[in-house]
Amino acid sequence: MSPRRAKVAVIHAPSSVGVSVHRVEGVDKVTGAARYLDDLVVPGVLHGRTVRSVVPRGRIRRVTLDPAFDWKGVVVADHRDIPGENVVALIANDQPLLAVDEVRHAEEPILLVAHENPERAEAARLAVKVEIEPLEAVLTVEDALARRALVHGDDNVFKEIVIARGDLERGFSDADLVIEGEYRSGHQEQLYIENNAMLAERTRDGGLFVRGSLQCPYYVHRALERMFALPAGKVRVLQTVTGGGFGGKEEYPSMIGGHAALLAWKSGRPVKIVYDRLEDIAATTKRHPAVSRLRAGVMRDGTLTALDFDLVMDGGAYETLTAVVLSRGAIHAAGPYRWPNVRIRARGVATNTPPNGAFRGFGAPQTQFALECHMDRIAAALGMDAVELRHRNAVRIGDVTPTGQVLKESVGARQVLERVAARSKWSAARREIERANAAAEVAERSARTVNGGRRLRRGLGVSLVYHGAGFTGSGEVRLASLAAMDLDRDGHPRVRVANTEIGQGTTTMFAQLAAEALRVPAEFVRIEDPDTGSVPDSGPTVASRTCMVVGGLVAECATAMRERLELFAERPIKGANDFAHVARRYLAARGALRIERRYRRPPGIEWDDASYRGDAYGVFSYASCAIEVEVDLDTCETRVVHVQTAQDIGKAIHPVLAAGQIEGGTLQGLGWALLEELRWKEGRVWNHQLTNYIIPTSADAPPIEVEIVEIPYSHGPHGAKGVGELPMDAPAPAVVAAIAHATGVAVSEIPVTPERLRRALREAGR
Ligand code: MOS
Repeated sequence: MSPRRAKVAVIHAPSSVGVSVHRVEGVDKVTGAARYLDDLVVPGVLHGRTVRSVVPRGRIRRVTLDPAFDWKGVVVADHRDIPGENVVALIANDQPLLAVDEVRHAEEPILLVAHENPERAEAARLAVKVEIEPLEAVLTVEDALARRALVHGDDNVFKEIVIARGDLERGFSDADLVIEGEYRSGHQEQLYIENNAMLAERTRDGGLFVRGSLQCPYYVHRALERMFALPAGKVRVLQTVTGGGFGGKEEYPSMIGGHAALLAWKSGRPVKIVYDRLEDIAATTKRHPAVSRLRAGVMRDGTLTALDFDLVMDGGAYETLTAVVLSRGAIHAAGPYRWPNVRIRARGVATNTPPNGAFRGFGAPQTQFALECHMDRIAAALGMDAVELRHRNAVRIGDVTPTGQVLKESVGARQVLERVAARSKWSAARREIERANAAAEVAERSARTVNGGRRLRRGLGVSLVYHGAGFTGSGEVRLASLAAMDLDRDGHPRVRVANTEIGQGTTTMFAQLAAEALRVPAEFVRIEDPDTGSVPDSGPTVASRTCMVVGGLVAECATAMRERLELFAERPIKGANDFAHVARRYLAARGALRIERRYRRPPGIEWDDASYRGDAYGVFSYASCAIEVEVDLDTCETRVVHVQTAQDIGKAIHPVLAAGQIEGGTLQGLGWALLEELRWKEGRVWNHQLTNYIIPTSADAPPIEVEIVEIPYSHGPHGAKGVGELPMDAPAPAVVAAIAHATGVAVSEIPVTPERLRRALREAGR
């Protein structure tokens, strides 16, 4: 795929794993050689556009093509053109590819147009008139629960999960104090740098070839099989160079890919659909908003006795991934703490807004935000230090989670908390900040000018979180991921997996794991492009699973490959040249060498889907953040001064990339905490531009100091656990705690915009 490769320094094995080798795809990206979907030049291509509803709920009365418009050369497709099922296949399969007679959200696709000229295609889109009879819409979780209108089933609830352990009543009667609270978080846009983009072509054999910016080629593949009633062998899906995903390219590419394929199917021409930023923000998936109500029992000495957690998530108009996001949110809701008595009730409800979907963390940031805010309220009520309360209750080996999972190994909760407390000089720093804030207040009262006349206060907050790696429960068993390796003709090993590089470093990590086992440099290993025509289904690139689960399979394939070649050579293989030499001899004498490894459940892991009990994940990663903020009491702006974080990820295969994941996830968490707010008007996003949907830029990024803690997991490659989502969980509650330290006011809703903080300070009489 990559035509040119610049010379880079060769780092010799066996120092691949744990060494920050050159990034495999980095040179193509920085030299501009990498071709993103919109860069691909395809002769005869048409540009597709999507006609959408503009009302959040209604019945389609009439669709007409403006007779005054010149429709020559315009391809038009609607639901009647779909050769197979009108569904974007995922889990519940309730979302149509194109609306038939009703719309359930304001961005729902109804009809498609395409033309050679993108401006004509856009003009054609505007020349389609859709008449919709509006129906009463449900736009908030409160409206959904109040059954203002029924938009799903008889109670608007897509899914309800209850996780219970111990005796809640006894837990509360054992408590000296019972603390209640309600916490809210809003939508968040993934805001990958490259918008969604797909390209579809009919193939000569009557099938489809679909390429695009995506996380999960086999998800798109399965969806296309259903839409076009094609056998698996007639559909080919290839991931092109992808500029970021963060979960936002987990399920929606099946929709856009289906649209492009339908236009290609009808016209016989290749069709590209590239969203602009406005359409991408308005129509595609976002993080689920959540409302969490907590009641916690605690003893005077800080021992937690009971937690009653009620969670409601806004799923949007179709179920899509809501049940799974809800599940991850519920499983993580009690945080990395010992709760002898717990009840978690989680409901995902339907509203008439675009379906919410996967976003880094997948529900866990929402619930752990609430839980961590609540931990600070408990600490305040007890007059106990926030680190001490967490340390006293943090899980250790042998402790049991709400689903009944016994934590058997690699439990870094206390270690990451201790590291962050030490690095931030927690107690001394808190005292120093309190002294400075008090001095500023005294100075201001005596009308002396300090801080250039600005009334500034500082604060330091802490958080502790965990995150399971891989699919939940029996999910990995059901996925049954298959990875393969074989040999190129020139004797280079080639890794074949469906997992995608989306900016996080997947290809480099796979190359390192294979190289380590083969005892060759990482650069010697080739990674096949994720193309369903040439890689087996190693599962989706989601759920912090790629390194731990798929990387483990790649390492196993590589070990088996080396053993086979050494058996053939009847001697050990030393280095890349020797490997290539032996491999070529093998190919000449024996023919192709292909090694495959399929996921096997590690021993001792049990999960029961019916009762929601057992080992939710093979293992958890742990993170702690200490965040210092500065609040301007007049403008109510919050500036993040400094972040200290320690994260137990088992083993950093590539320390620079792992730290990059942590820094990026932390910044994304800071954006969620302080800046990122989608504003809605009648079910439509109105701030769908980068000028008014504000995310942190590099200029807003505070210094983020990362300490990677490595407590190895026996079933991860070289001990590795997940790192993809974990960093997203920790920042928001630490920011809220820091603001409370600075101002004395604990807010309960994020983002803490100046407007929201001003209201909270007023209500508190500050
Ligand atoms: Mo991810 S949020 O599991 O695509």
